[in-house]
Amino acid sequence: MKSSQRSSIDPFIVMDIMERAQALEQSGRSIVHMEVGQPGTSAPKVAKEFLKASMRDNPMGYTVALGLPNLRKKIAELYGDWYGLDIDWNRIIITSGSSAGFILAFTALFDQADTVGLGNPGYPSYRQIMKTLNLKPLLINTTEKNKFQPTPSELSKHIINGLLIASPGNPTGCMIEKDSLNQLVDYCNHKKISLISDEIYHGIQYEMKPSSVLEFSDSCYVINSFSKYFSMTGWRIGWMVVPEEHVRVVERIQQNMFICASHASQIVALGAFESKDELEKNLEIYKENRARLLRVMPEMGFNNIAPPDGAFYLYIDISKFSSDSYDFAKRMLDIGGVAITPGIDFDPINGKSMIRISYARSTPEILNGIERIKTFMDEKKYI
Ligand SMILES: Cc1ncc(COP(=O)(O)O)c(C=O)c1O
Repeated sequence: MKSSQRSSIDPFIVMDIMERAQALEQSGRSIVHMEVGQPGTSAPKVAKEFLKASMRDNPMGYTVALGLPNLRKKIAELYGDWYGLDIDWNRIIITSGSSAGFILAFTALFDQADTVGLGNPGYPSYRQIMKTLNLKPLLINTTEKNKFQPTPSELSKHIINGLLIASPGNPTGCMIEKDSLNQLVDYCNHKKISLISDEIYHGIQYEMKPSSVLEFSDSCYVINSFSKYFSMTGWRIGWMVVPEEHVRVVERIQQNMFICASHASQIVALGAFESKDELEKNLEIYKENRARLLRVMPEMGFNNIAPPDGAFYLYIDISKFSSDSYDFAKRMLDIGGVAITPGIDFDPINGKSMIRISYARSTPEILNGIERIKTFMDEKKYI
């Protein structure tokens, strides 16, 4: 049977690596997981208790398409706590993870063949989802000096209908400064470029606090998720904040495409708001892992690493050792027993000389990974 042209997209390489790592584990090998960006911790305990209690007499039918009002109100409160913003809860829409949020946002904002700018390097699925929707992703050059984020001067070289940014970003963890973000938002509003801000890593930050685009404008889409700070990847639950006049637009698409996000996961998400202490403890683990890696990776010869401001990744230059990050990652997995992600997932232009490692697992696991990477490098197994 024929498949569509728009379905011919690249695989999400990190998921392929995770699958290969799991197959090796099933054959009896021990693998340290530093590939996928998912916390080693489960959903908070209180959150799971919420679900247990509610399952007794809640039939868990469909919720309204926009999501449980109580959950939307809790998220609105979060904007008060995190940024001092008063966001109308009616502008918040619950989604099946931020991944569904992208489909909703791109469908609501763009028409076929519209061009959407993306900072390069960036999260790979942005460009693949755009291709499946017949949109044109345009990779915008970024530099370490600009925290791997697009700037108005770089944007002015292109004609784009939309721009998607992420701060902290994946794979670098780098964060755009408040003033630069303000300038970017102003530029997009002035040029009538639809701005989407992926704020999925907010809450996981080290030396400075991230700003939300909502601090500068209501004319933009924000996408967020319970996957990272709230440690709930597999529950597939996230949210969007959209301008008031777009709520009905997104609601219609959600009703038809997804009906609603998982009812059970919405209940767990509600419980996650009662779990601040547990979530803050997770942050301590990331902090410790980050500090240790930043100390030891240069000792192994990985000198070119921009210290991440947030998220739980290091994006590392391996050009001294290899010009093929896929081969390097494959060897690291097969020989070294550590799963990492090749840079080509995030950057089709320069990613052959980069790898990303995730430090979202427990500190003992990360220490074990460090030891294995050391042995792999000492024995020059990358050749
Ligand atoms: C920047 C970024 N956005 C979105 C996602 C997808 O997250 P979700 O689990 O909410 O679909 C990820 C996952 O790693 C990510 O890194």
